[in-house]
Amino acid sequence: MQTVQPATTKVVRGVTLHSDPAREGCFNVVHLHKDMHDYSDFSDVAMRQRLHRHMHNEMQSLEIAAKTLYDFPDAPWDLRMQFARQCWDETRHTQLLLRRLEQKGGRKGEFPVMNYEWGVTCMMDSLAGRLALQNRTFEGGEMDLLRQLVGTWKAEGDEETAFVLDGLLADEIQHVRFANQWLKRLAKIDPRSLLKVAMAIRFLEKVTTAMAPLPGEVNAVGVDLTGYTHLDVFANIEDRRAAEFTEEEIEEILRQEGLLSAPSSSAAAGAPAG
Ligand SMILES: [Fe+2]
Ligand SMILES: [Fe+2]
Repeated sequence: MQTVQPATTKVVRGVTLHSDPAREGCFNVVHLHKDMHDYSDFSDVAMRQRLHRHMHNEMQSLEIAAKTLYDFPDAPWDLRMQFARQCWDETRHTQLLLRRLEQKGGRKGEFPVMNYEWGVTCMMDSLAGRLALQNRTFEGGEMDLLRQLVGTWKAEGDEETAFVLDGLLADEIQHVRFANQWLKRLAKIDPRSLLKVAMAIRFLEKVTTAMAPLPGEVNAVGVDLTGYTHLDVFANIEDRRAAEFTEEEIEEILRQEGLLSAPSSSAAAGAPAG
């Protein structure tokens, strides 16, 4: 398995993350959730901020896929093609959300941005670690969130944004599916990749704990972060199946969300819950 150049790093709340990617001068890059402008409502400014944040997340997905292509030049060709296609998808996603943001009177750089997924994922020195975190965990979670957001934007009367998000979801399923397929293949080629997956998930848990909002902490626009981060986003079972999570893995995700109470011996112990 290839080795990658040591990451250039930054330290945030005691954890070492990859340093930020280059950004145009219009962007104000912050490092903590408390410095973001995440609103809890659907006012005009909140809608623009949601689109802006999502646009920037798609940029990060593009950059992470592109960096993985660069960092692992000896990866199997078929996997490199998947990452290349993902770069194309994420570029399109970014452009769609920028256009929607501008249609609503917003602009690039209107709100602070944070390179959280980049900072965590790019610390991984293995393909298995990158796939486990970015595709399987972050994009797996995005799949669940998108399914819910399609309904939320529709309920707010914005059919066009709902339509855009529905289109994005179809691509995200494929990004998660190829990660699930390749994690299985990589485990057959080199069983140590399973250890890399476990280490990646442990690292994410460490970062999540370190960066969790403190009790009563509010963000830059006065929203209580403890309440904000506890929004219920339940597993999107149909799309998780389409992305080739096993029934045992889906069961484990549902249990973690408190939707299943009885423990099952068939649950995939230690498997990353996308
Ligand atoms: Fe995307
Ligand atoms: Fe994606």
